[in-house]
Amino acid sequence: MQLLLDQQGALYEQIARALKQAILDGRIVEGGRLPSTRTLARALQVSRKSIILAYELLCAEQLAVVRAGSGTRVGKLVAPPPIRRAPSIKKPTSGYTARMRNLPDFTLRGRAAHRYNLQCGEPLLNAKLFNAWRRKLSAAALRAGPKYPTAGGFMPLRVALADYLGRRRGVICDPADILIVGGTQQAVTLVARVLLDARAPVVIEDPHYQLAVHALKAHGARIVSVRTDADGMVVQALPKRPARLAYLTPAHQFPSGATMSLPRKMELLRWAKTNDCWIFEDDYDAGFQADSRPLPTLHSLDVGNRVIYAGSFSKTLFPSLRLGYIVCPQALRRDLFTAKLLNDLGSAAIEQAALATYIQSRQYEKHLREARREVLIRRRVVVDALRRSLGARIEIGPHDGGMHFVIWLNKIGFDELPTVLVKAANSGLGLYPVHPYYRVKPSRPGLLIGYAGLSAAQLKRAVELLTECLRRA
Ligand SMILES: Cc1ncc(COP(=O)(O)O)c(C=O)c1O
Repeated sequence: MQLLLDQQGALYEQIARALKQAILDGRIVEGGRLPSTRTLARALQVSRKSIILAYELLCAEQLAVVRAGSGTRVGKLVAPPPIRRAPSIKKPTSGYTARMRNLPDFTLRGRAAHRYNLQCGEPLLNAKLFNAWRRKLSAAALRAGPKYPTAGGFMPLRVALADYLGRRRGVICDPADILIVGGTQQAVTLVARVLLDARAPVVIEDPHYQLAVHALKAHGARIVSVRTDADGMVVQALPKRPARLAYLTPAHQFPSGATMSLPRKMELLRWAKTNDCWIFEDDYDAGFQADSRPLPTLHSLDVGNRVIYAGSFSKTLFPSLRLGYIVCPQALRRDLFTAKLLNDLGSAAIEQAALATYIQSRQYEKHLREARREVLIRRRVVVDALRRSLGARIEIGPHDGGMHFVIWLNKIGFDELPTVLVKAANSGLGLYPVHPYYRVKPSRPGLLIGYAGLSAAQLKRAVELLTECLRRA
């Protein structure tokens, strides 16, 4: 019998693992005798003690038994040892897997290697916030305790959020309606589980936020995309047939930056009522919207109780926090709460407790005020630099809110775009085209300008590099 030791951990564990493998592979059959400890010790050139310990381990796992007078034998295996054959990875194992594998390639945004990275979603780095957060976390560890959290979320956090949302977003709700989730991504997933059967029609915006739409598609949604313009989703283009769900980013359309106008919002709500459709309102960068007073949310205009309002702390604090919330409509509350419970039994309690005190103490709003001011400075710097350097070569899309905007390239065709991107990357500038976010390709190429993660000086340099790349093209 050949035994290959894997060199991991203590010697007797390696021997036990190698013997276990031989038993499961059927090389030592049920009831078969294991070599005597002395013989095996000699063959492996190890101490007899290591073999004795290895046999004891096998006996503890019921893979072997000691029979008086006849040494150690392989125990009774309930099922015959499987013939080792690698499971096929070609065939999807479920409908979900099949749909997931059909999605276009995507990666989670990680830290890019570019010195000047204009990727949207880069957070505004803030040492003050992290210091405050560190203190809140250690105090929260005592408050939250070691028991399972409440699946719906830490109640003081829900109370603090209900107060904040009512004052700042016009979202009037009971803390009991708020479900704490692991970011917008989990909100979309839970809503899909609760609302969608395979092939259920789901309306989305064109362009759209890919990760949310991927999650909907993986759950079997049949996507119906509706174009957007400077006033947000073109409601006249909504399908005449009922849809189960409409997923929108009305306050700051992703990624175009448009804000949905009030008449469109009212028309959308009317359409949703007529077509018995739920609306998922993704208010992802609430807190960084519009320089002036924020416009009303769909939730605040909804008298039919069919808006599922979702928010996240990924933009307002930082995305590694993985916390967000759903304000649940009455009719879906119980099912969404149960779906969350079945999914993960509740989000991490210490982070929730820390966030609760951060919001209650109004430090959150102070942080938002400061961050908004800084984002505004950066936005002005980058917009002014773009206008000065590139003038008529570009058109700047809506940019009165959020942390990114789009520029449209007037003098560059789609065929020249890859060269521009490579040249930019070679000079340390990370550029990201916007057309992959569209289902209907736009007439000219555009670039996403995510500016929040770069300082004013870095933004000026980034625009210089961009100008050079576009001029040379
Ligand atoms: C449109 C949109 N929704 C939501 C989010 C936030 O998602 P999460 O809360 O899962 O981090 C983002 C982040 O980039 C986004 O762009």
